[in-house]
Order: sequence, then structure tokens, then C-alpha cells
Amino acid sequence: MAKFPELAGKRVMVTGAASGIGYATAERFAFEGASVFLVDRDSKALAAAAAKHENFSGSYAADVASEEQVKSSFLAMDDSLGGIDVLVSNAGISVRSDFVNITYEQWKRVMDINLGGMFLTSKEAAIRMTAQGNGVILMTASSNGTEGHRWYADYNSSKAGVILLTKTMALELAPNVRVNCVCPGYVLTPMQRAEYTDEMLAKTNEGIPMKRHAEPEEIGALYAFLASDDARYITGADIRIDGGETAGLFS
Ligand SMILES: NC(=O)c1ccc[n+]([C@@H]2O[C@H](COP(=O)([O-])OP(=O)(O)OC[C@H]3O[C@@H](n4cnc5c(N)ncnc54)[C@H](O)[C@@H]3O)[C@@H](O)[C@H]2O)c1
Repeated sequence: MAKFPELAGKRVMVTGAASGIGYATAERFAFEGASVFLVDRDSKALAAAAAKHENFSGSYAADVASEEQVKSSFLAMDDSLGGIDVLVSNAGISVRSDFVNITYEQWKRVMDINLGGMFLTSKEAAIRMTAQGNGVILMTASSNGTEGHRWYADYNSSKAGVILLTKTMALELAPNVRVNCVCPGYVLTPMQRAEYTDEMLAKTNEGIPMKRHAEPEEIGALYAFLASDDARYITGADIRIDGGETAGLFS
């Protein structure tokens, strides 16, 4: 049974929707009865994902780092659903590198997708939501945006930027449009799994207070709550969902 009946019929865009957290979030909103519009740059995986649920109401293959493609994806959603009520801006990439080995090209690519993509998509959503007088914008930041983590200087910086983008937008768009971001810790998605050997996965689990990675569905559940009326007083927040990973120093 749906937990948030007010989400039924809401027009929801999820970016990075073909895999991992994005797919699980799209599925959760579909389960709640929302009309979900999926965006991803991987057209093949997107087509496969879009066919999986009857409440997936459209999809568009776009690179969130391209202003032109982002604008086109919103126009496509306008055409098929008549607008947007909830944005989950989630597409992102990470590349494990020693700081001194990060090329400027890689730095710019990570920034363009992880921070630029959030800017471009949330701007298109904000234009529409301020015009209609309501809406919810949600973004996927990371616990890597709240503390230093080795080997991800570009990624961490981009996610810290997402948190401040969220807070600034929340100030400007209140009281009609709410803006929040979530900061997941370790989530077992294809992106994360690809970086591990079995031994690395077991070692990482041991260091997390909850002794496991999050399931992507647990992040989707937080997104559904944040879009719901129960979260109507929550804006400008960066909400950690990290199994206690960042609860203490040197834990
Ligand atoms: N997995 C984790 O542990 C974790 C933790 C914290 C935050 N995050 C964040 O969650 C988000 C989703 O990550 P995930 O783990 O589900 O990864 P994933 O690789 O499973 O899925 C990411 C999806 O985004 C798409 N994508 C990548 N670049 C894109 C672009 N430029 N334009 C459009 N689509 C693009 C990919 O094709 C893919 O379908 C990312 O922003 C990531 O930084 C992940």
C-alpha cells in the first residue's frame, strides 16, 4: 500500500534514473502512484528501465551536463505530463584518484556532471515551480560532501557544492518551493560495487556502524518522505542517511 497518498498523480522527474539510487527512487515514486519521468544519459539502460513500471510515464536520454539537453528533457516532460511537481536531481559520477593524479579534465567533468547538472536541472524545475506556486526540488549530495574522504577530491568538492546550492535555493524559493538534499553514505549500487573487490566490501562494511551498505531503496524511501506533505516544514536541509558513518570522529 502506498504510504504517501498525496504523491499520487504528482509529476516527478528523476535524473540518473536508469540505475542505482535513481532507479530505486523512480520505482518508489511509481509505487506511490506518481507519474514518473526518467532521465539518464545511457539511452539503452534508460529504455530498459522505462519499460519496467506502468507509472513510468516518459523518459528522455540526456546528459545533465548539457544545458541544451537538460532544457530539451524538461520540454519533453512538459509535453507529456504538462509540467513538474517534484525533481529528484540525482545523476552523478565518481572516479577514485589520488589528488595529485586528478587531471584538470577529470576535475571539470566531475564538476560539470555532479554540480553543473544539479544547477541546470534545478534551475529548469525552479522556473516552472515558482510560476505554478509550488513544488519540491531534491538533490543527491553525499556524506563525501560533508567531511574529507581520501581519493575523491573532485567528487567531494562537487558534493559540498550541491549542499550549498540546496541551501541557497531553499532561501530564494521559500515559502512555495522546498529544496533539500540527501547525503547518502555507502550505498550498494553498480557505481559503488564496481569500485570494490569482495575483501574491500567486507572491510568497508566492518567500518560502518550499521555494519552494511544502504540499499538503494532506503534512499528512495527518504526521497518519497521528503516530497510528501509530512515533510512540509523541511527546506534547506542536508539530510544524512549513512548508517552512522559520519556520526563521530575517528569512529
Ligand atoms: N552509491 C553510493 O554509495 C553513493 C553515495 C552517496 C551519493 N551517491 C550519489 O548518488 C547518485 C547516484 O549514484 P548511484 O550510486 O546510484 O550510481 P549509478 O552509477 O548506479 O547510477 C548513476 C546513473 O546516472 C547516470 N548518469 C551518469 N552521468 C550522467 C549524466 N551526465 N547525465 C545523465 N545521466 C548520467 C548513469 O548512466 C547511471 O544510470 C550520484 O549522484 C552519486 O554521487 C552515491
